[in-house]
Amino acid sequence: MTTDLPEAWRDAELPDLPALSGEFVEEFARVIYGRTPPGARLGEVVLQSRDEGVFGGAGDRLRHRATISCPLGDLELNTLLHIPADARPAPVVVALNFAGNDETLEDWPYAKVMAAGYAVLTVDYQQIEPDDPNASRVRALFPAGEPWGAVAAWAWGLSRCLDIAADVPGVTIDGAIALGHSRLGKAALWAGVQDERFAVTVSNDSGCCGASLFRHPGGEDIAAITTRFPHWFVPSFSAYAGSRPPIDQHQLLASIAPRRVYVASGEDDAWADPIGEYLAVVAATPAFGDGDIGYHVRPGGHALLEEDWLRALAFVQR
Ligand code: GCU
Repeated sequence: MTTDLPEAWRDAELPDLPALSGEFVEEFARVIYGRTPPGARLGEVVLQSRDEGVFGGAGDRLRHRATISCPLGDLELNTLLHIPADARPAPVVVALNFAGNDETLEDWPYAKVMAAGYAVLTVDYQQIEPDDPNASRVRALFPAGEPWGAVAAWAWGLSRCLDIAADVPGVTIDGAIALGHSRLGKAALWAGVQDERFAVTVSNDSGCCGASLFRHPGGEDIAAITTRFPHWFVPSFSAYAGSRPPIDQHQLLASIAPRRVYVASGEDDAWADPIGEYLAVVAATPAFGDGDIGYHVRPGGHALLEEDWLRALAFVQR
């Protein structure tokens, strides 16, 4: 990984990297994502089913129903967990899914991930917070206070998934990984910044307000994202449409240091701006120890592919 910005970018006036770890976290909360309120507590985690030796014996499939007590009520989450047969306790990857737990059985390379020694815990992201400007779930379970957007709510959900994983035998949250694609990659990064239990954060095609730089033109910008998805961020973020926010996303990546981060892009995923993602990684690199930030760009477009999983896990294992 080169640490030199390309020539054209040396004078790009990127704001400075944090001098101290955590320095800009409050600023990212204020400007983009909002402040996540405290006060949630893991209640019961009830095993619903257990299938042993799935995917040709690669591991076990468990379904739990977990209750999270929030100040104004309970949130119920249905989790799907795969635990490898040959590596226990297995470090866990927590990843929210877009289309329901069962759909991941078709789409995610569970057998290979388990063969690599990792457990995977997933929840449907909309069980945490609906992706809808006119609805909320977890955010309605906290007293009205400072705003937090849906991306922050999903990031909060990733941390609750980690609480749940910590409760299940055969899984360890030592070395835990937050992984997310696209809008859920934005959430993974924000979770990785805030929750130090995540040893590694993986963002796949996370684009605008994820890994890509606001200051690199191309792909989605603040006007587009806040028009289509006003509920993802604090309401005041839309004021930066057409201008530059005081922070940029290399600082978000750097806020994960000294823990590790991996950014993955798709060559044809112009909306997520793979070059802006790459430049953010290069600009963030000085904040990390040797080998603690990684990147790949692969052929193809906007998707979380088997190749993305396996290359990210190869980085984790390095
Ligand atoms: C839209 C949105 C992106 C987001 C993506 C996704 O394209 O503009 O910001 O990352 O959806 O979540 O798939």
